Amino acid sequence: MRDRVRIVEVGPRDGLQNEKQIIPTAIKLELIERLIGCGIQNIEATAFVSPKWVPQMADHSAVMRGLKKHDGVCYSVLTPNLQGFEAAAEAGAKEVAIFAAASETFSHKNINAGIAQSLERFAPVIEAARKTGVKIRGYVSCVLGCPYEGDIAPQTVAHVAKDLYDMGCYEISLGDTIGVGVPDNVRRLIEAVASEVPVPALAGHFHDTYGMAVANIVAAHTMGLRVFDSSVSGLGGCPYAAGASGNVATEDVVWLFDRMGIETGIELDKLVDCAVWISSRLDRQPASRVAQAIIATRKRN
Ligand code: HMG
Ligand code: MG
Repeated sequence: MRDRVRIVEVGPRDGLQNEKQIIPTAIKLELIERLIGCGIQNIEATAFVSPKWVPQMADHSAVMRGLKKHDGVCYSVLTPNLQGFEAAAEAGAKEVAIFAAASETFSHKNINAGIAQSLERFAPVIEAARKTGVKIRGYVSCVLGCPYEGDIAPQTVAHVAKDLYDMGCYEISLGDTIGVGVPDNVRRLIEAVASEVPVPALAGHFHDTYGMAVANIVAAHTMGLRVFDSSVSGLGGCPYAAGASGNVATEDVVWLFDRMGIETGIELDKLVDCAVWISSRLDRQPASRVAQAIIATRKRN
C-alpha cells in the first residue's frame, strides 16, 4: 500500500483571515465546495473569534450553517474561549481547534492572555467539547520563532504541546507562524516534542515567508509526521504576526507528495483551477510556484 499523508486545508480560515476586504460568505462557501471537489477532506472553515479582533471571520455562524454535508469530509473551526465554542457548537461544529503559543508575547498579542492563562481558558472549552462529543485539535504557534521574542526553545514548545495533548486534544499542529524555520531546526523541534507527545498525534503547520515550508515539510515527514496544514494558492498570514506570509500552498504540498509517490487523495489539476478561481476573486495571480508552473505549461500546450 502507498504511504499516505493527510492534508488539512486551512485556506478558508488562515488563508482569508488577513484579507483586508471583507469577502462575501457565498465566496467562502463556494471556495470550500471547490476544495472538496478536489478531494480535500479536512477543512478549517472559519474562526469563532471576536469580530473586533478579526473582522474577516465575523460571518463565522453563517459560514458554518452554509456548509454542505459530504461523506468523509470533516470541518473544523477555531475557538479561542468558551464563548467561541458555544457559538460554534450552536452553529453545528463537530470539531474545533484551540490555539496556544510557545511565546508569551505572541500569546498576549493574539488572544490577550499569557500562555498559562490561555490554557486555563481552554479547560472549559475542552470540558464542554467532551460532554457534547466535539473533537478538539490544538495549535501551538511560534514553534520555530516569534515576531516579538525571536528564537523559541524547542523545550518550551514541547511543554505547551504536552499540556494541550494531556488536556484532550487528539492532534497538535505545530505552527511556524512566521515561516522562519529551516529543516535542521524542524528536526530539533520534533525530537524535543516527540519526547512529550506521540509523533502520530503531531501535525506540521508551516507558513512560507522565506520559501522554506516545503523543505520543512520534507524534514518533518522524515521525522514521522503524516499530517500537514496548507492553504490553497498559499493564501494567508496572521493579523498578529506582521510580515508573515501565507501558509505553504496546498498545490506545492500535493505536487511534492505526488512526486514522492505518497498519496494525498487530492487532484492537483483541479486544485490549480481552484487556486486560479480564488485568486481571481481576490484580484491577484496564484502565489504558488507549482500553480504558476502548471498554468504556464497549460498555456504552452
Ligand atoms: P478580549 O478582548 O480579551 O475578550 O479578546 P473579552 O473576553 O475581554 O471580551 C471582550 C469582547 O469580546 C466582548 O464583547 C466579548 O463578548 C467579545 P463586548 O462586550 O466588548 O461587545 N468576545 C467574543 N466575541 C466573539 N467571539 C468570541 C469572543 N470572545 C469574546 N469568541 C479574544 C480575547 C480571544 C476573544 C480575542 O483576542 C480574539 O478573538 N483573538 C483571536 C485572534 C485571532 O483569531 N488570531 C488569528 C488566529 S491564530 C493563527 O492564525 C495562528 C495559527 O494559524 C497557527 C500558526 O500559524 O501559528 C492557528
Ligand atoms: Mg497559521
